[in-house]
Amino acid sequence: MANPDSQTQAELSQDQLKALVGQAALQFVVPGEIVGVGTGSTVNKFIDALASIKDQIKGAVSSSVASTQRLQALGIAIFDANDVDRLSVYIDGADEIDHHGNMIKGGGAALTREKIVAALATRFVCIVDESKLVQTLGKFPLPVEVIPMAAKRIAQQFAAMGGKAQVRLKDRQPLVTDNGQMIIDVTGLQIVDPLAFEAQVSQWPGVVTVGVFAFQKAQICLLGTAHGVEKLTF
Ligand code: A5P
Repeated sequence: MANPDSQTQAELSQDQLKALVGQAALQFVVPGEIVGVGTGSTVNKFIDALASIKDQIKGAVSSSVASTQRLQALGIAIFDANDVDRLSVYIDGADEIDHHGNMIKGGGAALTREKIVAALATRFVCIVDESKLVQTLGKFPLPVEVIPMAAKRIAQQFAAMGGKAQVRLKDRQPLVTDNGQMIIDVTGLQIVDPLAFEAQVSQWPGVVTVGVFAFQKAQICLLGTAHGVEKLTF
């Protein structure tokens, strides 16, 4: 197998970049502690790498059923979020991240639990390939977990902001999240003030979680690039 370190980005697939940052995130895992674990294809690479040091950690608090199953299959103990006071680190991917560590998350529909576990952690380490780094959040359709009976009204509120909301489907039916709710994806937004935007939308009745992570922003981003893993600190 080729050594990724000796390859240029042209030769490195997005999958290999995800594996690079997933492996690099191990340096932030504190021995003897419980680690917060996100959700998604990049985090899956981290989980696979975490298995190599599983004897050095107590276990993980997971942000989704999918991550829990993957962690358990690799023999990593799962702790309930209510059984921990604090996590030193939460490691997760993102759909977009700006140059201040604000993110859009929820492409995998796990945003609510992700925000809960992130809020427990002292440090959020975001792992992404460089295609996710943006100047302004909003090109990626913004995921919002909502109570189904509020979906239409929330869509109208986004329309008043210039956004277009669509219910996310799975097998032609509205997708049901791990929390039994639905996701709307909103296009056409330019989120220039992520903190104000998150504060505003979070107050709308029926919004469970908006996929802007500004209050729970990243402190560190490990970016998979042409020149290997770059570390951004916010
Ligand atoms: C899951 O709901 C998301 O927040 C993911 O963290 C995000 O979609 C990134 O996923 P990938 O690593 O699969 O791109």
